[in-house]
Amino acid sequence: MISEALYSSANPVWATPPKLFAALDREFRFELDAAASAENTKCPRFYSRYDDGLSQPWAPSRTWCNPPYGRAVGAWVAKAHVESDLGALVVMLLPARTDTRWFHEHVIRRAEVRFLPGRVRFVGAKAGAPFPSIVVVFRPRPLRHERVAIGQLALAMGTGRG
Ligand SMILES: C[S@@+](CC[C@H](N)C(=O)[O-])C[C@H]1O[C@@H](n2cnc3c(N)ncnc32)[C@H](O)[C@@H]1O
Repeated sequence: MISEALYSSANPVWATPPKLFAALDREFRFELDAAASAENTKCPRFYSRYDDGLSQPWAPSRTWCNPPYGRAVGAWVAKAHVESDLGALVVMLLPARTDTRWFHEHVIRRAEVRFLPGRVRFVGAKAGAPFPSIVVVFRPRPLRHERVAIGQLALAMGTGRG
């Protein structure tokens, strides 16, 4: 297996600073890192490029995802949206590209956005990133039987719609 360190000498990996991850992990208690390597994973359970996190199930795990940057970011955000509909909580560290299709189709419609002050200094970087970052939280959508139960309670209380 090619070492991530070797691979990353030509391509920055943009690994999450431990303090930023620790603050989010205190809040969300992650169970799965969906985009990682053995060297940089933030959770004992992870998917690497060899597993292909995009084609693996994330739900119902509380999932951390700082995806590989580049044109594929949109595919990772779409995957987070789908997996949260299936019951996963997904928290992502993303470039704050508010003009992109993925931001408008998935993030605005479905997620909570936390704009980070300043620039993230990724692991191994000599300075802050050349782009601003956001933390995006896709909360698990209630399962169908939960939505039905909530609707029935609302009806019983006379607060239901229709
Ligand atoms: C931005 S780094 C994040 C590393 C680490 N999870 C963190 O948060 O610090 C993205 C990682 O995703 C890995 N990766 C690339 N393609 C992947 C794929 N298809 N499935 C899972 N991981 C992948 C890269 O090798 C890299 O280690």
